[in-house]
Amino acid sequence: MTFLFNSDAERGAIFAKAFSRELPDIPFATDPAAVDPEAVRYLITWTVPEDLSRYSNLEILFSIGAGVDQFRIDAVPPHVQVVRMVEDGIIRMMQEYVTLAVLALHRNLPAYLERQRDENWQAIAPVQAAERRVGVLGLGMLGTAVLDRLMPFGFPLSGWSRSPHEIEGVKCLNGRNGLDALLGSTDILICLLPLTDETRGLLNAQLFARLPAGAALVHVGRGPQLDHQALLQALDSGHLSGAVIDVTDPEPLPAGHSFWRHPKILLTPHIASVTQPETAAKAVIENIKRHRSGLEPFGLVDRGRGY
Ligand code: GLV
Repeated sequence: MTFLFNSDAERGAIFAKAFSRELPDIPFATDPAAVDPEAVRYLITWTVPEDLSRYSNLEILFSIGAGVDQFRIDAVPPHVQVVRMVEDGIIRMMQEYVTLAVLALHRNLPAYLERQRDENWQAIAPVQAAERRVGVLGLGMLGTAVLDRLMPFGFPLSGWSRSPHEIEGVKCLNGRNGLDALLGSTDILICLLPLTDETRGLLNAQLFARLPAGAALVHVGRGPQLDHQALLQALDSGHLSGAVIDVTDPEPLPAGHSFWRHPKILLTPHIASVTQPETAAKAVIENIKRHRSGLEPFGLVDRGRGY
């Protein structure tokens, strides 16, 4: 029963070391061409290989990233478990990035960067954290962790997800009406939703219109959830005050795109959170151990939901 690692060699070496220590009885392979396909029980990869069917005894297909939207799940045989990457490094980095983004927007950093360039020594009237309502779309592992990290700053917090959740100190909303309620009372909106048919294009003109005037956006979900033109219009009309954007469609963002130089946009190249090999190897090893003792792996994808 082989574990096949289909990603870069640097991360592979770290995984290999952890596997030899923790799961010495499972052969660890990094070269698909050199492996007996029928021996492969576990495969970790970013995209589903074209020749997936050669791994006829595959039990778990692991994504090397937090999302599985890049997988064509329909092409994966139904008995194969598909597992998202849930690991401490991704969670910690997302907490850092969103905290950075929320504080940057809260403290008017985009405007001050512009004033610095203009040699303009002028203050903007500060808003206190208790007056700045932060709303998170998506209450999975990442959304919940981000809310937890934001809590000490004193922002009124709310969160929205498809299904009902309960988080102490957070107003949790769900369903269509819940989304309207959240949008109407959010000054900084954070998108941490997975990409599904329901969330594709969700961040559009209608959604922005439901936010209060002066609201801002932090987008750390997936590029295709955001209508770029709608965001530009909302920023240029003054309805939205700023945006921190880490994901776009397409990626990389093409040369000359208006996001690059927009004074109200802070743009980063999909770096908010990146799988960390040490902690990721630990998480995958734990999941294999769970699987071997008949337990469900953490991050198991519900094929019906698509995440
Ligand atoms: C990054 O976006 C990931 O899915 O890990």
